[in-house]
Amino acid sequence: MSFPQHRPRRLRTTAAMRRMTAEYRLDPAELVLPAFIREGLTEPNPISSMPGVLQHTTETLKRAAAEAVELGVGGIMLFGIPESRDATGSAGTDPDGVLNKAIADVRAEVGDDLVIMSDVCLDEFTDHGHCGVLDANGVVDNDTTLEIYGRMAVEQARAGAHVLGPSGMMDGQVAVIRQALDDAGFQDVSIVAYAAKYASAFYGPFREAVDSQLQGDRRTYQMDAANRREALLEVELDLEEGADMVMVKPAMSYLDILADVAAMSPVPVAAYQISGEYAMIEAAAANDWIDRRRAIEESVLGIKRAGANIILTYWAAELAAWLKESK
Ligand code: PBG
Repeated sequence: MSFPQHRPRRLRTTAAMRRMTAEYRLDPAELVLPAFIREGLTEPNPISSMPGVLQHTTETLKRAAAEAVELGVGGIMLFGIPESRDATGSAGTDPDGVLNKAIADVRAEVGDDLVIMSDVCLDEFTDHGHCGVLDANGVVDNDTTLEIYGRMAVEQARAGAHVLGPSGMMDGQVAVIRQALDDAGFQDVSIVAYAAKYASAFYGPFREAVDSQLQGDRRTYQMDAANRREALLEVELDLEEGADMVMVKPAMSYLDILADVAAMSPVPVAAYQISGEYAMIEAAAANDWIDRRRAIEESVLGIKRAGANIILTYWAAELAAWLKESK
């Protein structure tokens, strides 16, 4: 009978031993809370496919931002839902549009104590639900859309965003936004490029969250799930165009992409644990099929282990509270 020479189990014997030898640990500062504000609401509105997530009013959004600061959360990513939509998404470039006002309100509430990020994309503002404007054939027109993104970006910066998140996957969007910001005197406003954003079924609940009008899909601009190498091209282009950070989205089905990007990126890498990932875990937990807290912690730790420096997750505040209590 020969006994093992090596016993990795020794380092697993007690909770204290496991804690000390852990290779990765989560920190509230690396978490970003995505949040929705809906124009004209008097009470916050629950999103049925994302239990626990709300369409906020101005007041509840400000409270959520203040709470995020209390908990040590790193940032907030804002999405706006306008009362009325049109073909060119004009509410997005309106200084008094719902998102631009929300940015200003949150900035007034938290100042520089929380990194305020905002979505630069047209899908919440267009009546057809696409991330850009359409040409005569109904195809998303890349270059006309870029010009609008540039104006949106300047309004968001003027409202007080620290970081802009162009999520529309138009070619050249980072360069155009950088140029527009610089021309308007916003040299210090950063860009987190949704560099590798895939056309995903897991965005489903988000479409409910923003009352999306989309018919069809986004496969002519978002990446194909079959592609891995192409993610590196997207990252290289965004870096060349001036991205300060790059993002991979979704997270859980794309951990290989995240690891690839983390291995080559000279700038911080973000990952977005999206609405469908949230909904899956919440639904399974609600049925008592999995342990909710453990599943959440494990899923976010997996994203960190794969190489994310920044993690956008709808559980950011709750996770931060757990991390605080376990200290
Ligand atoms: C587009 C955008 C989307 C998400 C973030 N930004 C939706 C889409 O591309 O269809 C999805 C986020 C999520 O699912 O949690 N503005």
